[in-house]
Amino acid sequence: MHWTTLLPLALAAPSIAVVRFHCSQLVVQRVDPLVEPGSIPSSHVHQIVGGNSFNATMDPKKDMPAESTCTSCQFSEDFSNYWTAVLYFRAQNGSYKRVKQLGNNQFETANGGLTLYYMQDAIYDQAQKSKVTAFQPGFRMFIGNVSARTIDEAARYRQLTYVCMDTWTQRAPETMQFPTRRCKEGIMTSIRFPTCWDGKNLDSPDHMAHMSYPETGTFESGGPCPATHPVRTSQLMYEVVWDTKPFNSLDWPADGSNPFVWAFGDATGYGTHGDYVFGWKGDALQRILDTSCWFNTNCSTESRSKLQSIDAMNKCTQKPVVDEGIDGWLDVLPGGHQAEYGPPA
Ligand SMILES: *[C@@H]1O[C@H](CO)[C@@H](O)[C@H](O)[C@H]1NC(C)=O
Ligand SMILES: *[C@@H]1O[C@H](CO)[C@@H](O)[C@H](O)[C@H]1NC(C)=O
Ligand SMILES: *[C@@H]1O[C@H](CO)[C@@H](O)[C@H](O)[C@H]1NC(C)=O
Ligand SMILES: *[C@@H]1O[C@H](CO)[C@@H](O)[C@H](O)[C@H]1NC(C)=O
Repeated sequence: MHWTTLLPLALAAPSIAVVRFHCSQLVVQRVDPLVEPGSIPSSHVHQIVGGNSFNATMDPKKDMPAESTCTSCQFSEDFSNYWTAVLYFRAQNGSYKRVKQLGNNQFETANGGLTLYYMQDAIYDQAQKSKVTAFQPGFRMFIGNVSARTIDEAARYRQLTYVCMDTWTQRAPETMQFPTRRCKEGIMTSIRFPTCWDGKNLDSPDHMAHMSYPETGTFESGGPCPATHPVRTSQLMYEVVWDTKPFNSLDWPADGSNPFVWAFGDATGYGTHGDYVFGWKGDALQRILDTSCWFNTNCSTESRSKLQSIDAMNKCTQKPVVDEGIDGWLDVLPGGHQAEYGPPA
């Protein structure tokens, strides 16, 4: 999808809300308060953005806006934490090197991190008329399967994708596995979370059961929520731009396989996943969703006044609590992981 062509048209529509904004890198380290609370270190390296109250325990009762002194997100009232695993390149000699992220399109001066969308309707639907319910304090969710190594295992999470970016604004085609060729501008990974909530539980043991995809179709096609999960929420989506360019000039596998590996060892791409811990101040997210807001460029005056500069976002960082080498050429991925390839096709 090319925003440059979409944007002028979209601005003509009334009361639209697709909230798109960036969050710079808060910290990169082995900590995971959702899946492995209290573990220092957790099993694999993550890149984390958002409020600086982030830590390894994160009691759901924690008042994230009150305990944070800054956020790396553009909306200054968003103290949520958003994270994904980090990506590594595996050289032909078996050494690994971390792939850094880039500020996304329109956020080029941001220090890494990821871009967020909170949508009312499919992003290409310029009407954005549906009313959606914002998440609430204490809400958390996870999507994906770290152990998935085949397309069948990943099929349940069909909206976790890769784009081989030959141009900076390219957003298609999307694949469920890693691209196997050199991508001129980098690799984008997108994580679309489920959009139907059970209306009761802020979390669940697998951090997924309280949420569901629509019963039929998708959020994009306006598919209805199942009776078990009747509350239609905003679609939360992450976009991460991985700067694979520095690796394009190195030797790649002669058999044409992909040289990139998730920090947990997955070299297929099917194990991609995302974590979310809601931490917006008060009803700030609902207010933004209820008023006109196209990306962050044409939000209501009130919503716009809550945006901080990219410089301010870049200044909100945390010192890692896990002191280990995650950069430079490594013999093994932090936590002891090695590249795992799926079963032969
Ligand atoms: C912002 O959107 C409103 C409709 O939601 C439109 O009337 C207005 O012209 C837009 N402003 C700009 C600067 O594009
Ligand atoms: C995390 O922050 C809480 C306060 O919210 C604090 O009580 C706890 O000790 C911190 N845990 C770690 C591991 O830093
Ligand atoms: C492994 O390969 C990379 C990329 O060519 C190179 O920079 C690195 O020095 C090599 N490491 C070893 C231990 O040979
Ligand atoms: C994740 O994938 C593994 C490996 O196939 C499988 O055993 C497990 O049931 C899957 N879990 C979920 C929640 O899909």
